Amino acid sequence: MSNQTEIRRRRTFAIVSHPDAGKTTLTEKLLLFGGAIHVAGAVKSNKIKKGATSDFMEIERQRGISVATSVMGFEYGGYKVNILDTPGHQDFQEDTFRTLTAVDSVIIVIDAAKGVEPQTEKLMNVCRMRKTPVIIFINKLDRPTQDTFELLDDIERQLQINLNPLSWPINNGPDFKGVYNIFDKSLDLFKPSVQDIEPGISFDDLDSPELEKHIGNDARKLREDLELVYGVYPPFNHEEYLAGNLAPVFFGSALYNFGIQELLDAFVKIAPWPRTVQTEEREVDPEDDKFSGFVFKIHANIDPNHRSRIAFVKVCSGKFVRNNMYKLIRSGKTFRVSSPTAFMASQKEIIEEAFPGDIVGFPDNGSFIIGDTITEGEDIHFKGLPSFSPELFRFVENADPMKTKQLNKGVDQLMDEGVAQLFTSQFNGRRIIGTVGQLQFEVIQYRLEHEYNAKCRFEPMQMYKACWIQSDNPKALTEFKNRKHQKMATDKRGRDVFMADSQFILDMAQSEFKDIRFHFTSEF
Ligand code: G4P
Repeated sequence: MSNQTEIRRRRTFAIVSHPDAGKTTLTEKLLLFGGAIHVAGAVKSNKIKKGATSDFMEIERQRGISVATSVMGFEYGGYKVNILDTPGHQDFQEDTFRTLTAVDSVIIVIDAAKGVEPQTEKLMNVCRMRKTPVIIFINKLDRPTQDTFELLDDIERQLQINLNPLSWPINNGPDFKGVYNIFDKSLDLFKPSVQDIEPGISFDDLDSPELEKHIGNDARKLREDLELVYGVYPPFNHEEYLAGNLAPVFFGSALYNFGIQELLDAFVKIAPWPRTVQTEEREVDPEDDKFSGFVFKIHANIDPNHRSRIAFVKVCSGKFVRNNMYKLIRSGKTFRVSSPTAFMASQKEIIEEAFPGDIVGFPDNGSFIIGDTITEGEDIHFKGLPSFSPELFRFVENADPMKTKQLNKGVDQLMDEGVAQLFTSQFNGRRIIGTVGQLQFEVIQYRLEHEYNAKCRFEPMQMYKACWIQSDNPKALTEFKNRKHQKMATDKRGRDVFMADSQFILDMAQSEFKDIRFHFTSEF
């Protein structure tokens, strides 16, 4: 197969949701329908169950599972589907955001009864920022839900994206009958049996009395609903979906295998293959001859005796070949990978080659950091791995003076893995760790102790936000830094960061220093 054919049959995406909407269940069912697994229950949930925030064995166990399920690849109807897993726990949302930089599209799962939840909104914001095409799967139709039109209006308003239903539910909760598939004009009847996989009934003519035979009195309501749907929503515009302006919507019940086949069949047809990727220097076309890719995730080995890690590389162009020489742009060093891995049907295996859209695992003993670009030699730098301002901040102090070296190495490596963000105060040199959740501080402390034999202590600090600052006016920048010198810090890449104590202080600074640009993500 030519490179072009290989590229065009690849579908690399992530399933994301607010916790409990059904991401894990849907992932598992897609693998089941894709033939990658044969029984439900084979994929373990990677989520850290509620209430387990201090159960570190659980975290360690989950980390073991999540490396196996980081990428789930399978062949389906001539397509190569790669599902990238994202952590369920919201304290690890940065990992999810980073994974979203390596996908070509996203499926957002929404609980039909709950609608849009806080995490759904945040995830959508990241997709919107990157213009990632999004499909919405409304789950749990077997439970009572609000009116479908109202639900879609709410989602459209809260997620700020135009919707286009490609299927339509017939009732919900205990009266749920199934969905009419607008995309391929078929009727799928709901049978709440957990393993049944039955194709839909082709149903072109909705005026036919046959409809009554299948769904009884609900037929009239369905006809009325669909008339309204065709009136309100214009026909599906594929280009608008690919541009990230329009989200097709499917309905179903992941738990009962319902609506999954339809979702998967429509998904492989409409979802994009790998797109061009922006670097600081130029756009990289997946069909370029030469290999390029970037590291979007680093996974540490859970066995402290083998402190090797896996760097997950998204192939962006050309063809990756085992044992070929490649260049790590940040260090300028060349290297070859003798045992690159890929994950097919949750089995890790050594691969000979990989194409754009694929994710390759490079064994790593500390050479890579998140965001690294790898090429055949050209000095380009992939953009688009934003760090968001953390929400919680603590000073990190050494609690065992004999182990300073270990602590520094541990902190450095954990930050390279993207566990949290490190800032160094320009005022007194103290190191500040910023996270989005309390759990990350616990993970850092635990891993420093168990993997690096170092002890740390966190000290509280009053901090609202970290903002990256920039200005075209060097005088204004110097003046700002002098005035705020106690609150200035440097991030890992040496950039200036203003640590604002409160929203009030930030607002004041913004209105007083008009020549300074304040950025709330590190990508600008
Ligand atoms: P998440 O990864 O998004 O956090 O959600 P997950 O798939 O773990 O699903 C959360 C809960 O919702 C699970 O129940 C799951 O069985 C249930 N669920 C998923 N899809 C459906 C659906 O279509 N209908 C209904 N009624 N329930 C659904 P749980 O009791 O929390 O966990 P478990 O003990 O069943 O694993």
